[in-house]
Amino acid sequence: IEIKDHNLKTKQVFLGIDVGTSSIKGILATSEGETISVNEVQQIVSNPYPNWSEQDPEVWWRNTIDVIKCLTFDASKLPYPIEISCIGITGQMHSSVFLDSSGKNIRPSILWNDSRTTLQCQQIYDLVGEKYLQKEIGNLALEGFTAPKILWLKQMEPDNYLKVDKMVMPKDYIRYRLTGELATDHSDASGTIFYDVRNRKWSKPFIDILDIPFDIFPEIYQSTDITGFITTNIAKRIGLKEGIPVVCGGADNAVGAISSGVLSKGQIQSSIGTSGTLLSPLSKPLITDDMNLHVFNHCSIDTWYAMGTVLSAGNCLRWLRDNFAPTKSFDSLINLSEQIAPGSDRLIFLPYLSGERTPHNDPNAKGVFFGLHNGHTLGHMTKSVLEGVTFALKDCFNLIKTLGFTSNTITGIGGGNKSHQWRQIQSDVLGIPVSTISPSGGPSYGAAMLASVGYGHFNTPYDCVEQWLTQTESNQPNLLNNEQYEHIYEIFRSLYPNLKESFKLLE
Ligand code: XUL
Repeated sequence: IEIKDHNLKTKQVFLGIDVGTSSIKGILATSEGETISVNEVQQIVSNPYPNWSEQDPEVWWRNTIDVIKCLTFDASKLPYPIEISCIGITGQMHSSVFLDSSGKNIRPSILWNDSRTTLQCQQIYDLVGEKYLQKEIGNLALEGFTAPKILWLKQMEPDNYLKVDKMVMPKDYIRYRLTGELATDHSDASGTIFYDVRNRKWSKPFIDILDIPFDIFPEIYQSTDITGFITTNIAKRIGLKEGIPVVCGGADNAVGAISSGVLSKGQIQSSIGTSGTLLSPLSKPLITDDMNLHVFNHCSIDTWYAMGTVLSAGNCLRWLRDNFAPTKSFDSLINLSEQIAPGSDRLIFLPYLSGERTPHNDPNAKGVFFGLHNGHTLGHMTKSVLEGVTFALKDCFNLIKTLGFTSNTITGIGGGNKSHQWRQIQSDVLGIPVSTISPSGGPSYGAAMLASVGYGHFNTPYDCVEQWLTQTESNQPNLLNNEQYEHIYEIFRSLYPNLKESFKLLE
């Protein structure tokens, strides 16, 4: 029997929701930043054809409702009453949601790791050229980004294309369902490549060149702006109070960086979720000629970030577990690799299960175990997966280093960084300490932080970071391991150029 002391003061709390790929996550944080409830509902990705990666937005919505209900149910067992003051949302970047004029979702979302649009990317280069993209947009046309997906829809599903009234990103769809309002923020808009990163607005000239109607794009707000309120119907359905404000929120990598306090020039965040990213904030949009790193807008007006993306990071470990050790937990699988020396007895894994973005930008790249022999065990394969993903992050790290970062540590977030062993491998491979932050809620916690700012509890995300976050553990590089890894990384690096043409033969 729960005994609630109604004489205790009601606590104001902030709700953060992350529309992730492998799950919807939710968190309730008090105005002091204490996490009082966490919930997560797993979901799958559908791959109906090679290179396709889709999810049904309706599933995100159902899972979001379940997550919110579980969070509030758990919170009802606390000895004190709570009241949700404001909601923040974040989610996977680049994934398309196409809505018709009645606000209904037209087809499954085409995700950030879908690579069906190589032809459409080529058409963009043929039409405007890379130099134009450098000047007007600030990013390359890559398969996973949103713009080529609309061209694909136009060419391959013209009936669906004619129905499109609005195009939004996953977190924006959840906002729409919660509040009835259509909106997006700068961090997510920049990931569409329909957006001018330098001038912080939709690029009308580029949208016109591609012959896409400008009014399918929602208005862009700041991440902490209030962009709607929980509607009466939804309030009844979920059991929330009507009228709770919802802030605009942002892209999962940017909001993750809020949750890890990575807001200032020179800091670096490593995120290992389904994808892996290495991100470093910029005080100016530093767009190189080759645009080898993505440059997107952060969640505050005066900040951008450079980012390298490894399309399959935690996903590689999940693939290994699901197919070769389905009864093991991730921790017990990682424990199998604990005693294995750096280099996995000369087994090298290329993590390109979904092709690769940084640095190869090659949808044809494939996963490889290189060097398998009779002596290798599941433990070696596991270690080699952890190392291979980390080598791919090192490819991103090397590019970020050329921007002149100043940090003496990397802050790790996401499921992969919860593992002490994986953080140690990163520290050894990259040769730099890898720290964690408390609380370690990641993007969903960052979304609650944005809600606290939007509600007026703090003036800026910086103030919230100051009050709510503390750096905790730090893994220090082992210099001997670092030296060994330097050598193995060179072999890793040589494999892709050698296999590049052969990968094409598998298409
Ligand atoms: C970044 C990217 C992924 C998704 C994952 O460009 O595509 O990290 O944001 O949700």
